[in-house]
Amino acid sequence: MVKKTVKDLDLKGKKVLVRADFNIPMKDGKITNDNRIQAALPTLEYILEQNGKVIVFSHLGRVKTEEDKEGLSLRPVAERLSELLNKKVTFVSETRGEKLESAVNELNDGEIMMFENTRFEDVDGKKESKNDPELGKYWASLGDVFVNDAFGTAHRAHASNVGIASNIESAAGFLVEKEINFIGGAVDQPERPFVAILGGAKVSDKIGVIENLLTKADKVLVGGGMTYTFYKAQGKYIGNSLVEEDKIDLAKELLEKAGDKLILPVDSVVSSEFNNDAPTDVVGQNIPEGKMGLDIGPKTIELFEKELKGAKTVVWNGPMGVFEMSNFAKGTAAVCEILANLDDAITIIGGGDSATAAQQLGFEEDFSHISTGGGASLEYLEGKELPGIAAISDK
Ligand code: 3PG
Repeated sequence: MVKKTVKDLDLKGKKVLVRADFNIPMKDGKITNDNRIQAALPTLEYILEQNGKVIVFSHLGRVKTEEDKEGLSLRPVAERLSELLNKKVTFVSETRGEKLESAVNELNDGEIMMFENTRFEDVDGKKESKNDPELGKYWASLGDVFVNDAFGTAHRAHASNVGIASNIESAAGFLVEKEINFIGGAVDQPERPFVAILGGAKVSDKIGVIENLLTKADKVLVGGGMTYTFYKAQGKYIGNSLVEEDKIDLAKELLEKAGDKLILPVDSVVSSEFNNDAPTDVVGQNIPEGKMGLDIGPKTIELFEKELKGAKTVVWNGPMGVFEMSNFAKGTAAVCEILANLDDAITIIGGGDSATAAQQLGFEEDFSHISTGGGASLEYLEGKELPGIAAISDK
C-alpha cells in the first residue's frame, strides 16, 4: 500500500486521533446493528496495546438544525464500544472547547475517549461537511497523529477526515487497509475469471459501477429491479415492473458496449402486487400486463450458478430482488449460497443492501470480505478516487 498504515506510526504515549465510521442504525436510542463498531476494534485495540492515548470520533446521521441533534448523540455508541473493548470509554458531549481539551490532556497511555457527533458542527454553517479549514486544524491540534479508519466515509471530503489529515501526520487504520486490499485488489488486479454481480432497483445508481466493471470483469451478471429498464431497452414487455424511462437510452448503450459480457435474467418471479402475501408466478423475459418482476427466477439462478462456476474473484453489489419480503428473497439467498460454495474464490460484497441481505440471510461468515461502506464502496467500484483515502500521508 502506498499510504502509511497505523503500523508505520510511533504510537507510544502519543495522542492518537482516530476517525471511525460509527454511522450505524439506531432505533429509539438503541443500536440495532453494531457491525461498524466491531469493524473498528482491531485498530483501536492495536493503538491501546501500543500504549497510545486514543481519541475516537465519528459522524452519525445528517444534522442541519439544532432539532436534528435529537437522537443523534454518540453516547450510546461510546457505551457499546466500552462493552466491546471491555474498557472504560470516557465520553465528552462536546465537539470543541475546554471540556474536550482537558479530557484529552487527562488521558493516560492506553486509555480511550470519544467525543460527540462531528456533524453537530454542521448546525453552524456546515463546518464539518464543508471541510471548514479552521475546524480541521482545530481537531488536528488535539492530537499528535491521525488514524483514519472510517472507510464508510472515505467518499466524503469533510473536516474530520480530509481536514485533519491535511494538518498532521496520518495513516490508514486496519479496516481502511483491508477494504483497499480487498476491493481495490479485486478491481485492479483480479484473479481471473472475475465475475461481477450487480443488482438493486435502479440503473441510475449503478451506471458508474456497470461501466467501470464492464472494462475489468470477464462477466457482469445483472439482477434486481434494474433488469426491467434493460428489458425495456431491448424492446421486451415489462408489465408494471419498475422502470426508469429516462435511462432506457443509456441502458441500450450499455448493452451495446457490453456485448455478451453482460448477462440479464432469463426469468422472473412476478406478482400483481408489491406485497409478500400476493400470489406469485414465474415467467420468462416478457412480463405479462398487470404483473411486476420482484425477483430473479429459478432458471436465472441456474444460469448465474453456471456463469459463476470456476470464478476466482467475485464482486457483488445490490440484491437480486425484494429480499426484505420472504417470497422475493430466494434469488438473493441463492446468490449468497452459490458464492458461499465457490471453491477457492475471493468473494466480496460491496456494502449497502447486499451486505444487509447477506447478514440477514445468515451468510455473513461465508464471504472473504463484506465491505462496511455503502456509498464509499460504490464509488470505489466505479474507479473514483476517494478523498478520505487520498488525503492520508504517503509512506
Ligand atoms: C454511510 O453510512 O454511507 C456513511 O457513513 C456516510 O454517511 P453520509 O452518506 O451521511 O455521508
